[in-house]
Amino acid sequence: MKSPKRYLITSALPYANGPKHIGHLAGAYLPADIYVRYLRAQKRDVVYVCGSDEHGAAITIQAMKEGTTPKAIVDKYHAMLESNMHDLGISFDIYHRTSAPIHHETAQEFFTALNQKGDLQLKETEQYYDEEAKTFLADRYIIGTCPVCSNDNAYGDQCEKCGTSLSPEQLINPRSTLSGNAPSKKTTTHWYLPLDKHEDFLRKWILEDHKSDWKTNVLGQCKGWLDNGLQPRAVTRDLDWGVAVPLPDATGKVLYVWFDAPIGYISATKQWAKDNNRDWKPYWEDKETKLVHFIGKDNIVFHCIIFPVMLQLHGNILPDNVPSNEFMNLEGDKMSTSRGWSIEMEEYINDFVKKENGGDMMVDALRYYLASIAPETKDSEFTWKGFQDALNSELVAVFGNFVNRTFVLMHKLCKGKVPPLHESIADELDKKLLADIQQAKNNIETNIEGYKFRDALFEVIDLARKGNKYMQDKEPWIVAKNVGEDGNPTPEAQQKIDNCLHVCLQLTANLAVLINPFLPFTAKKLCAMMKVVDKMLEWENAGKSTLLSVGYSLRAPELLFRKLEDTEVSEQIEKLKNKSIQLMEATQNNQPIANIETAAPEQKKPVIQFDDFAKVDLKTGTIIAAEKVEKADKLLKLEVDLGVEKRTIVSGIALHFDPSAIIGQKVVVVTNLAPRKMRGIESNGMILMAENADGKLQFVAANEATSNGANVS
Ligand code: MF3
Ligand code: ZN
Repeated sequence: MKSPKRYLITSALPYANGPKHIGHLAGAYLPADIYVRYLRAQKRDVVYVCGSDEHGAAITIQAMKEGTTPKAIVDKYHAMLESNMHDLGISFDIYHRTSAPIHHETAQEFFTALNQKGDLQLKETEQYYDEEAKTFLADRYIIGTCPVCSNDNAYGDQCEKCGTSLSPEQLINPRSTLSGNAPSKKTTTHWYLPLDKHEDFLRKWILEDHKSDWKTNVLGQCKGWLDNGLQPRAVTRDLDWGVAVPLPDATGKVLYVWFDAPIGYISATKQWAKDNNRDWKPYWEDKETKLVHFIGKDNIVFHCIIFPVMLQLHGNILPDNVPSNEFMNLEGDKMSTSRGWSIEMEEYINDFVKKENGGDMMVDALRYYLASIAPETKDSEFTWKGFQDALNSELVAVFGNFVNRTFVLMHKLCKGKVPPLHESIADELDKKLLADIQQAKNNIETNIEGYKFRDALFEVIDLARKGNKYMQDKEPWIVAKNVGEDGNPTPEAQQKIDNCLHVCLQLTANLAVLINPFLPFTAKKLCAMMKVVDKMLEWENAGKSTLLSVGYSLRAPELLFRKLEDTEVSEQIEKLKNKSIQLMEATQNNQPIANIETAAPEQKKPVIQFDDFAKVDLKTGTIIAAEKVEKADKLLKLEVDLGVEKRTIVSGIALHFDPSAIIGQKVVVVTNLAPRKMRGIESNGMILMAENADGKLQFVAANEATSNGANVS
């Protein structure tokens, strides 16, 4: 296959509406960064662009929540995201933003070009309107029940629970997020992109031309969309935050955020070209450019269907591939910033990177674990224990250990210099290891070029593992015991030692080249230890067995990785649980904009089987002690008598009951709920409560005659 003349690589523009978590990092940024670093090491012409997505309801709603302006929100989070990405080694050529004037111009020109060619349709329709807030309700301004999964808080553009893309009309029981009221309907005019007209083109381009090189999850979603039949999509909105529709009779209307944001890739490229005295056009217009969009699975329809139609109409090149990842869960649950069940990039940086025993080492540790569990074909799961295992038993025990032993022995047995290779006594093991390096290089290339970053990374670690095995087989420290009269190893012994360490050092140099796209900070450190310049990391050097010159003196080994302690694991898990509890307390305290929680119609949960119900162990009991939990407004620490035993249970009812008033209260307890620590107190069960329409809590109580410990069924 002929290699492309140049590459343009993009990562989804994150919304500048809050911190982003490590699931985002693993989905759209780290894989792209690995790919780009690999291409750069091959001296390809590559530009990697990204930036903040600063428009749309995601931003204006956050501004209302924080009681500030959309501008203040995007300024704050743009700065945070840019610095987080930088700290985690994501090597964008430019991290731009869609509020920049050059973006507004680019997006407006794009819209105008399509509109003038007659590619857009103007339509008058009825849309949801909030009479109280006097505004149209699109996208995230309207919520309701998801027709697919029954989630009661699905947005007008998407259900975040099941990932389905929606239009406001599909929501059951729609309500305004501004006032909480049921909306009325009002006519308005918008521009539409008639996707239905482009079905044939899309079908051929995606399902035929790319049927064998796009990932199956991507093809599957696209096929689903196409089979359902495409509808015209509105590309404008009634909103006062965004890129103004560039027409005289369109005041109060802006481009739909999903129309302007992907054009952000183009405006970022323009800005990069300006800053670097280059021409941006070939990157978007020349067919010999390979365009690749790295995204998460919730962005597939926009990058594979809508944006390609826009690009095609506008005369731009189309993406060659859209490697989309599935989601990364966290400790058994879906990652979510709003529920507090997440590890924000910012948090990880503060807890590990900007610490005395952290730094770049801990950046690479995270990159390693995330790449090794990347959700490439299915959802995956981050656990702190898994992180600890990967760090301690792979990075420290395999990679770090091999490099460290090599350097220590070279200093001890070879005077701190690269020893010669004595060809006459080189054996099968030496040759095998050198051949393994070549093989690993080839496999890594194939995997990276096929967007299989996990497999590529395994190849590198496996090679280090082979290095350890080789050293174990050769035992230079034992060979060194064959000493002559002067107390030094005999000449034969020294030759064997030389060969072993020569091979191990060449392997170390190769490991630096091969690990560089994944763990760039480690590769740099290795270069420093070997006293070589970064140029050695060029990909063409991989597979060579002459990277280090004989007789060259090397530095002392540096610590590449540190272990993660058990205490750190438990602290993080504790922190995660507390954070989600605090967040739940906070959302109950300062009601969301429109009191979404209480405005919600009756919550219906999916039907369960008897077996599911039977798993819950319910028993009656009596509260025998109750006290407030320090520094937690909502929590009471209860002592409950369950007949045969007494239990400590922490319950979030402090705002509703005075501790002294509930002593003697009969209760029903879920006794087999997994123990959970809240504010350092282990809670062993849950008390059943009922909530009235006015928000008042009542105990679900057994009557006085029931003895403690009776089964409830
Ligand atoms: N901001 C969007 C999200 O977080 C992604 C935008 S990608 C772009 O889901 F292509 F539109 F830029
Ligand atoms: Zn849903």
